[in-house]
Amino acid sequence: MSSESKAAIAEALSEARERTLALVEPLDDEQLNAVYSPILSPLAWDLGHIANFEELWLVQTIGEREPLHGELGRFYDAIENPRRIRGELPILRDDELRAYMADVRERTLDVMEDVEIGPDVDDPLLREGFVYEMLLAHELQHNETMLQLLQLVDGYEPGGGAGHLSPGQASGQLARRFEYPPVREMPRTPDTVVVEGGSYEIGAPANGFAYDNERPRHTVDLAAFEIDRTPVTNGAYSSYMEATGAEPPLYWERDGDGWVDTVRGRRIPIDPAAPVIHVSWDQAEAFARWAGKRLPTEFEWEAAQPQLDGVGHGWEWTSSDFLPYPDFEPFPYREYSEVFFGGGYKVLRGSSWATHPRVARPSFRNWDLPQRNQIFSALRCARDA
Ligand SMILES: [Fe+2]
Repeated sequence: MSSESKAAIAEALSEARERTLALVEPLDDEQLNAVYSPILSPLAWDLGHIANFEELWLVQTIGEREPLHGELGRFYDAIENPRRIRGELPILRDDELRAYMADVRERTLDVMEDVEIGPDVDDPLLREGFVYEMLLAHELQHNETMLQLLQLVDGYEPGGGAGHLSPGQASGQLARRFEYPPVREMPRTPDTVVVEGGSYEIGAPANGFAYDNERPRHTVDLAAFEIDRTPVTNGAYSSYMEATGAEPPLYWERDGDGWVDTVRGRRIPIDPAAPVIHVSWDQAEAFARWAGKRLPTEFEWEAAQPQLDGVGHGWEWTSSDFLPYPDFEPFPYREYSEVFFGGGYKVLRGSSWATHPRVARPSFRNWDLPQRNQIFSALRCARDA
């Protein structure tokens, strides 16, 4: 890999960091340190964790250098420190936090000057720049987690801090990506796509960046099925609630005869044509059953993905448990995927309005517990053909 590739990595890292900082720019230190929910980290933890993960992999592992703050890293270990306790940890805050983020980045770029990242290098971490791609994906995925929390901050405007980015660069994309809710017309009675039965290739190809849980690519036999061309809308979900007395999605509140969306402290009437978002797996599964359908399996979702509209509103729940593919090998660390397999997690596919395009790919597997709806989760129905 040439020096141009290193320059491209450096630029992508810098864009990701601009995006991270733009997200928190409208907030003061008190808001960054505040605990808004036991199932979401304070933003200061996310910021320190982003930098610490970078230090661990790109400075300590790749550069073989000592960490800047000794044992600090253990407080940023996501497995060791569950979200509900992160507000109490002795983590970096305020100016010290910002300085740490900048210092780590400087060392990262310094280390990168001396490493080889071509397609033929022996170290699988460096081959094709894997570890740098992993770091980029990590920061961008944490942006989405931060946006989950930012829905709880009254008066917060996503993309509001993007003004300092030069026009035509990341700012346009940032503002577009964070428009919420995304306005897109969805048909009242969704059209369905019939997918023929047969063998389908599932998972990420051997080359290019992907997580361990997306590999190895393998063949799966599917029976013929039908899948809705579009996700379930707010209007359809409201009809279901009226008919059954089911609970509303997260952040919905009654307002007269209708419903309002209360994210970020606002009260915006629900748009019946937009896809429903912030539903749990339990809610999604119950809706599908009520509609005489079912959730697709994750393999059905991936096989049908090239024909589907409306991908990108919300992560779409599937009926599948989060399990390893045949001959799965953990890489580069067990804690990314392996420790979650068989833990009662359900797979979501696609991406949401808060997902960076670099993260969204057909083989990407997201996962969460079936009762959770703080993520930007949607659904689409399927049935046997
Ligand atoms: Fe993380």
